[in-house]
Order: sequence, then structure tokens, then C-alpha cells
Amino acid sequence: MRQMNRAGGMTILGLLRDAAAHLSDIDAGNPRLEAEYLLALALGIERPVLLARDPGVPVEPYAQTRFGVLLARRLAREPLQYVLGTVPFAGLDLVIGPGALIPRGETEVLVEQVASALRFASSAGSPASPSASREQSRAPLLIDVGTGSGAIVLALLHLLPGWRGIGVDRSRAALSWAQRNRAIVGERRCDLFRGDLLTSIRPTVADAVVSNPPYVRSAEIPGLAPEILEHEPHEALDGGVDGLEPFRRLVVEATRVLRPGGLLAVELAPDEPEQAAELLAASGAFHPAWTFLDLAGRKRGLLARRV
Ligand SMILES: C[S@@+](CC[C@H](N)C(=O)[O-])C[C@H]1O[C@@H](n2cnc3c(N)ncnc32)[C@H](O)[C@@H]1O
Repeated sequence: MRQMNRAGGMTILGLLRDAAAHLSDIDAGNPRLEAEYLLALALGIERPVLLARDPGVPVEPYAQTRFGVLLARRLAREPLQYVLGTVPFAGLDLVIGPGALIPRGETEVLVEQVASALRFASSAGSPASPSASREQSRAPLLIDVGTGSGAIVLALLHLLPGWRGIGVDRSRAALSWAQRNRAIVGERRCDLFRGDLLTSIRPTVADAVVSNPPYVRSAEIPGLAPEILEHEPHEALDGGVDGLEPFRRLVVEATRVLRPGGLLAVELAPDEPEQAAELLAASGAFHPAWTFLDLAGRKRGLLARRV
């Protein structure tokens, strides 16, 4: 039943309960939490501020209308992050919307793995180190292939003050989100441009190549949740017949572009890292790869150094 105050207006509690009930019908991951984010946005406040308010207080009519519009979009299976227009990622608050893949938790793990591998390389004075000879006195370079919203390259540069970065993507729409995020974060060490994987990059210039490439098997795409299938870009998802087609091309190009000792780091689907490590070993261009786990304990990607 709708929760009204004495004057007849809907209260915070009433709106949240109603919305959570509707969101349960579409199997939203956490209906109450989603309702809180949407109502906070409708009111123009942060969620913690909403939670600090008296839930029995009536909500202004203009905010109720706005909430109704946002909720309707979410009930039409638009992803929550597109409706909110923002997504937290690895300590950054990014903007996001149609045309760019929503950055995921497993990609935050990739960022952590890469940051610690590159920091370790710096302290160990490996070829990827921002130190030593005249050649290496330039800031080392990392390239994020298929940068989408710019999440990976911007998060890594935030964690690695001595580095510079490039984000490449084939999609104009994705790049426009990356450009907005670069401006929001205020990152001046990052170039963004349109390209097909690493084809427009000169040989032997990169100290790290990092990628979350499309890796969903083509046959699995029709079975994805409507939030993904109908709203996120297909070119961000489709990894071909076995999910590894972009990875195979990336290995060839990273072999050309990485300096000796440079790092290749790639996120993959849970059942792909072992086959990918075999492909990498067969190339003969990399030291043995090591895999990393996502938050659910599944193998989700690999890292390897160029010989
Ligand atoms: C899985 S999304 C990753 C987006 C972002 N890096 C992230 O982790 O949230 C893959 C990205 O690769 C881009 N992409 C796909 N094929 C590409 C290609 N051949 N060259 C460059 N970018 C490509 C897509 O447009 C998409 O933005």
C-alpha cells in the first residue's frame, strides 16, 4: 500500500517501497538499493544524504515526477548506471551512457593487478621502469586497447603518477565518453584516439598494453540479460566463435608494440584464461603468463611479460 503523509503526498518510505516492489518484478539485483539511488538522483542529493533523512517526510511533487521518469527507464531494462549517468570505478567517479560498456568489478581487479605489476617493475628497475637511461627518462607508456569509457587508462594513470597513457577505441561513441571522463578526472597525461586495436601504434613504444577486449562467444550473445543485449554496444561484447578472436589479434599486435620486458594484461571470460595462456606461450614472444581471479574466485584474465 502506498505510504502517504497526512497531507496526502508520497513519503520517501512509500516511494522506496513501491519502487522496490516494481524493481523486484524485473529481477533487479538489489531492488531497494536501486530505488534509493534513483530517488536520491530525483531529489538531487547523494544516497547517504537520502538515508539520513526522515523516511516519513513527503517528497516534493517535482521530485516525484522525476523519480517516476527514472524508474520507468529502469523498468524498461535500461541499466541502472545508464539511468544514473555515473559509475564508480577504481576510486574514480566516471560518467557513462549508451555507446560505452559499463565498467565492471572484474575490470577493477585487472587495474589492481596491472598497477601492482607496474609498480613492482618500477621498484625492481625493469625495462618498464620510469628510471635509468636517457631512453627511459621519458615517462613510460601504457596503452589501453578498447578503452570504452576510458575507465582502465584513467584509473591506471591515477594510480601511476610517473606514467603516460593512450586509450584507443574503434567506436566514436565510446571515445566521446572517454573524452568526457578524461576532462572530469582532469587527466593531462592521456591521449585518446580512434583506431583498430594497435594498428596505428609504432613498433616497440609501449611499456604496457592493457585490454578488456570483447570476449563473449557470438552464440552466447542472444542469451544475455536485456540490460546488456538491448542497451550495451555489441561491438564491446562479441569475441567471435570462441570468444578469443580479438585476443588472438591483440597478441600479434602487442608483440610488435611492446618493448622487451613490457607487460601485456588482458581480461577474459571465466573459462578462457587457460586457453589464452597456451596461445600466448605458442607465440614464443612472452614469458610464461600468470592468471588472476575475480571477486568470485574465477580465473578472469592473464598477465605476461614480453621477452
Ligand atoms: C569490453 S569493452 C571494454 C571497455 C572498457 N575498456 C572497460 O573495460 O570498461 C571493449 C571495447 O573494445 C572496443 N573495440 C572492439 N573492437 C575493437 C577494435 N578492433 N579496435 C579498437 N577497439 C575495439 C569496443 O568499442 C569497446 O569499447
